[in-house]
Amino acid sequence: MTSTPNIPKPGAPVHPTARELHLAGTGSFAVEVAEWAEDAGQAVVGLIELLDSSRVGSVLAGRPVLAPDAPPAGASAVIAVGGSRREHWARLRECGWGSGTVVHPRAHVSPSARLGAGCIVAPGAVVGAETIIGEHTLVSRGALVGHHVRIGAFVSLLPGINVGGHAELGDGATVGMGAVIVNGTKIGADAIVAAGAVVLRDVGAGSRVQGVPAREYRG
Ligand SMILES: CC(C)(COP(=O)(O)OP(=O)(O)OC[C@H]1O[C@@H](n2cnc3c(N)ncnc32)[C@H](O)[C@@H]1OP(=O)(O)O)[C@@H](O)C(=O)NCCC(=O)NCCS
Repeated sequence: MTSTPNIPKPGAPVHPTARELHLAGTGSFAVEVAEWAEDAGQAVVGLIELLDSSRVGSVLAGRPVLAPDAPPAGASAVIAVGGSRREHWARLRECGWGSGTVVHPRAHVSPSARLGAGCIVAPGAVVGAETIIGEHTLVSRGALVGHHVRIGAFVSLLPGINVGGHAELGDGATVGMGAVIVNGTKIGADAIVAAGAVVLRDVGAGSRVQGVPAREYRG
């Protein structure tokens, strides 16, 4: 089910990332990711505007706003805007951007875990032993990911979630703030788990679940 492209080999640094980074996004989430990147010793040298081309050419907080179709040579980026991480990355990759990675110094990533290129791991997040996370996945503030978890690409793990050991999350899934995915549960690709839900049973691809215990609903 879960594809994990471009993940570093065991033993590779968990955040083999560029010192200079561009953020795809110009909104409040980009402000937050910029702080995380700077805390990690990276320089955020530009912002990429994916939504509103009228901002291209402006300067925000001292950073130039670039169009996605003109990456500087060798430039790398992370996705710092809402919406489909998969679609945003497809556009950036097509334009020639490389993947950056941001791992905040106050996150804990197990040395035996593997992160795909383009992941963001925020302050207070924990990624447990032998967990594998695919490319361009967001592990937001205080998100707790247990051991031996398999997480696909382009997943959004929002603040304060808790994923138990051996759980599996498919590509493009979203887990809302504070949700709990009990150990061993499988969440299908592109599923949405609402904030505060407690998932006790597998969730199908593309399904939306909410509540305690989590049940499917129509959005
Ligand atoms: C699930 C979610 C994506 C909303 O999805 P949606 O399909 O647009 O849902 P709607 O807002 O139209 O609400 C549909 C119904 O679900 C209910 N609902 C919405 N979110 C819910 C939640 N987290 N738990 C329980 N019920 C919820 C609504 O009250 C509504 O019920 P009603 O039909 O009886 O009035 C959203 O509520 C959510 O949980 N988002 C995550 C937010 C988050 O984590 N943000 C992080 C910011 S850093």
